[in-house]
Amino acid sequence: MASHSPSSEKKSDTLEVGDVNDFKVHVFKSSSELLEKLHDKWSQVEKKPYPAMFSSTYGGIILDPALMVIPIDDHMVHRGHGVFDTAVILNGFIYELDVHLNRFLRSSSKAKISSPFPRSTLRTILVQLAAASQIKKGSLRYWLSAGPGNFLLSPTDLPTPAFYAVVIDEDFSQCKEGVKVITSTIPMKSPEFATMKNVNYLPNVLAKLEAEEKGANASIWVDEEGYIAEGPNVNVAFITHDKELIVPFFDKILSGCTVLRMLELAPKLVEQGRLKAIRTANLTVEEAKNSAEMMYVGSTLPVLPIIAWDEQPIGDGKVGELTMALSDLVWEDMTAGPVGTQRTAVPYTE
Ligand SMILES: Cc1ncc(COP(=O)(O)O)c(C=O)c1O
Repeated sequence: MASHSPSSEKKSDTLEVGDVNDFKVHVFKSSSELLEKLHDKWSQVEKKPYPAMFSSTYGGIILDPALMVIPIDDHMVHRGHGVFDTAVILNGFIYELDVHLNRFLRSSSKAKISSPFPRSTLRTILVQLAAASQIKKGSLRYWLSAGPGNFLLSPTDLPTPAFYAVVIDEDFSQCKEGVKVITSTIPMKSPEFATMKNVNYLPNVLAKLEAEEKGANASIWVDEEGYIAEGPNVNVAFITHDKELIVPFFDKILSGCTVLRMLELAPKLVEQGRLKAIRTANLTVEEAKNSAEMMYVGSTLPVLPIIAWDEQPIGDGKVGELTMALSDLVWEDMTAGPVGTQRTAVPYTE
C-alpha cells in the first residue's frame, strides 16, 4: 500500500476513495478533467518529443501527445505479444525503410501476429506519418501487436491485430568517440527469440544496465558455445590484425539492417586496399579480444568504436582507423545514398 500522497495534488481536486488510510486516490470525474491535466503536463515541455503517432485502433494519425496511448488490454502490453522495428529519418528521407519493413514482417510472422493492413499500406502509413510529423531528423518506431480486446493469453478471440507507429524527434550524428564494453552476465535470448525483433527486451535492458553499473557503454553477449553474439540493441563487428572485417553469423542473433548494409558497402575498402577480406564467422572471446579494432553497429550510431572490453584495450586502445572508414561509408549512405533503394523521400506538405 502506498504510504504517501503526491504533495503536488491539490486537496480540492482529490476525491476520497474508501477510508483505508490517509492516502487518497484521485478519481477523474470526467475525461475533460484528465485531458486538461495531460495537456497541462505537455504544455510545460519545450519541444514535443513525439510529433506524430499512428494508431490502427484510432484509425489515423494523432498529433496531440496527450492522446498517444495504447489500450491496456492490448496483448502487446500485458503479454508481450508484439514485434517492432525502427527506421531513421535523416535529411528528410527515411533510411532503408523497405529493409526494416521486411524484417518487421518476418518478425510478425514468426510471432504469429497478422497485420491489419497489407505491406504496401503499412509503408504508406509510415511515409505519411513521417510527413505529418514535419521531422527531418529523428526516428520512426512501429509495432504490430496481437491487438486489444481481453486479458487472456491466447489472441484467438481478439477482434483485430493492431499497428502503432510514432515519430521521435531526436538528434544523432556519426559517433567518433570510443566506448568501453563488458561481457554480459545476463543470459542471452535463445535463437528463436533473438532472431525476431519482439517486444520482450528485458534481457537486453538488464544487459545494458549491468554495463552502465560497471561504467561501460553496453555489453557483449557470448553464446553457449563460447562465440560472440551481439550487444543489447546493436550488432558487433571486428577488424583483425590481418585487416579482415569479421561479423558474427546471424543464426542466433538479430540480423541488423545496418551491419548488413555495412557488409554491402565494405568491399569499397577492399578495392582501395585498406581491407583484405570481409566475412561472417564464429569468433571466440579470445579471438575477439585480440582483434585490432572493434565496433558496435546499429541504426542511429551507425558505427560506434569500441576501445576497451572488460577493461582490456582493443588494439592500441584508440578509435580504429578502419572502424571510422566503415562509419564514413555508412554515414555517407545514410545522408546521401541512392534515393529509391536506400532512401525514401518524405512528402512534406510545406
Ligand atoms: C538485439 C539487437 N541487435 C542488433 C540490432 C541492430 O539492428 P539495426 O541495425 O537494424 O538497428 C538491434 C537494433 O534494432 C537490436 O535490438
